Amino acid sequence: MAALEHGASAVEAVVKATVMLEDDPSFNAGTGCVLREDGKTIEADAGLMDSMAQIGGVASLKDAKNPILVASKVFESRHIVLAGDGAAAFAEINGLKNGNPPTGRALARFQGEACDTVGAVARDKDGRFAAASSTGGIGNAMIGRVSDSSMPGCGYWAGPMGAVTATGIGEEIAKKLLCRTVYGYLESGVPSEEACRQGVALYPREISIGLLVIAANAYGWASNRNMAHAILV
Ligand code: GLY
Repeated sequence: MAALEHGASAVEAVVKATVMLEDDPSFNAGTGCVLREDGKTIEADAGLMDSMAQIGGVASLKDAKNPILVASKVFESRHIVLAGDGAAAFAEINGLKNGNPPTGRALARFQGEACDTVGAVARDKDGRFAAASSTGGIGNAMIGRVSDSSMPGCGYWAGPMGAVTATGIGEEIAKKLLCRTVYGYLESGVPSEEACRQGVALYPREISIGLLVIAANAYGWASNRNMAHAILV
């Protein structure tokens, strides 16, 4: 919010917010990424999009503390998503390959299901929207697994009507192109809060889902279990 008040774009704001969350080891993103099924590998996914249809994402990215910063460099490139070794090489070229060893908390959570993906949505003073998402993936995932957080339309989407980001089980989010689907509700005139509720209602209770939406003069959120969120207006 401070960045927006100082003239930052919506994209800059969601990147800054996501970096703060990635730097907090409480979350499963960036510094706090969970481990893959081998109990030692960290692979992160992140993505962002603005309302001019500019997209940047990374998938299965190793050794970067702030995957969203690498995604923001992809955002400025001629591609939309980079994966694996190519993403790591791109991070290195941009000075963002800075090592990301597992935290004690990640090691402790290795046996459990974990899904504390982070995300942010913003609208700037020029009315532009942006959405971002970042995750270490679900607990015990196979090496090379790609999550919704790197894939536009799945874990994030933005357009002239607003911006949407999601958290939850990425495979289920991807099957319903959840963020693009919820954005479609906004296009149909559904208010933000109701759009979030309808998005969450697409899933049975046992599938963990959360959504954040920002639109021109409104915002909304919904989840089917307790999930931390903050709203600044
Ligand atoms: N939504 C995060 C994940 O499934 O990896």
